[in-house]
Amino acid sequence: MQRTMSDSPDLAHAGRARTAAEPARVDAAFAQHREDPLARFLNLLALARSEPRQLEPTAMSLATVGDDGRPSSRIVLLKDADARGLTFFTNLDSHKGRELRAHPDAALLFHWQALELQIRFEGRATQVPDAEADAYFATRPRASQLGAWASAQSHELSSREALMQALQDATQRFQGQDVPRPPRWGGFRLVPALIEFWRADPARLHQREEYRREAIDARWTMRLLNP
Ligand SMILES: Cc1cc2nc3c(=O)[nH]c(=O)nc-3n(C[C@H](O)[C@H](O)[C@H](O)COP(=O)(O)O)c2cc1C
Repeated sequence: MQRTMSDSPDLAHAGRARTAAEPARVDAAFAQHREDPLARFLNLLALARSEPRQLEPTAMSLATVGDDGRPSSRIVLLKDADARGLTFFTNLDSHKGRELRAHPDAALLFHWQALELQIRFEGRATQVPDAEADAYFATRPRASQLGAWASAQSHELSSREALMQALQDATQRFQGQDVPRPPRWGGFRLVPALIEFWRADPARLHQREEYRREAIDARWTMRLLNP
């Protein structure tokens, strides 16, 4: 049946759900560590993780770019964050894995709706050392470890049954032993060159503070942006 305009959901005036955490707490955290954007991010991340209404605070959108210059994005989970950068794990031969190895420039985005915060990162992604990937892989639930062996992530799948068979094969293969990290599974660390903090304002005059640095050992400079 052909869709008509009247079938479309009315999104134009849907507005935002009013589920925000106590604004004064968020404002106070937003104002801290202005001299060090990584410390500022970690402090806000801790706040997001302590807010029960913020589901999946470590979920972030990862944008990559292909040979043809076309962007693609998907959600991954933040697994480590410190002064070196932000780390996530994935299949190295997945769509994103292949793009990142060919074009390391990437962007990460957090939207913490319950805190009315948006934090953006841009920078270059480098593969984490094998030892780091091994250490994280060893902490994953066994089912996830076996799934990593079974799934040729992002490649065409002939049928759901074929995936179940691959999982069964992996289960049999590693029966009675620890599941090692698949050789093509690993992590990337995005080393940021740009970090933007965005805080919603009730009158839509949102606060935007953008940090940039020319090199990894250079000082961050901060400027305000119009909302
Ligand atoms: C909440 C959430 C968390 C996810 N976390 C990861 C992750 O940490 N690593 C990963 O490879 N895929 C993760 N995925 C799946 C990815 O979004 C994506 O479907 C998959 O990695 C294949 O992406 P690609 O084909 O663009 O490479 C997650 C999806 C969701 C919705």
